[in-house]
Amino acid sequence: MVPELVRVAATADLQPGQMLGVTVDGLPIALANVDGVIYAFSDTCRHEGGPLSNGVLIAATVTCPWHGWTYDVRTGKSIIPPIGLRIDTYPVHITGADVYIEINWSDD
Ligand code: FES
Repeated sequence: MVPELVRVAATADLQPGQMLGVTVDGLPIALANVDGVIYAFSDTCRHEGGPLSNGVLIAATVTCPWHGWTYDVRTGKSIIPPIGLRIDTYPVHITGADVYIEINWSDD
């Protein structure tokens, strides 16, 4: 399946250390600027669905605002117990002043 490139923000919307929540066709996605590099990941915590983009970003670690689960925004991996869980991540492309993410929609 060919991935879809979707424009989700302007680079100016995300300064280093900031996060932004967006929705793409109903799918909540969080963007984070870590030292000038933008990462995209699911905006739905694996615990009870907390909005990660409303949490705290320190370096590459996001902490969920609801109960404190943490994830590495670069890999989506949970970095405190329960280790092994992960949230989806999406490749990011910067074109000029625009931020695009790559989404593979599933047929199921
Ligand atoms: S919903 Fe994220 S830690 Fe509970």
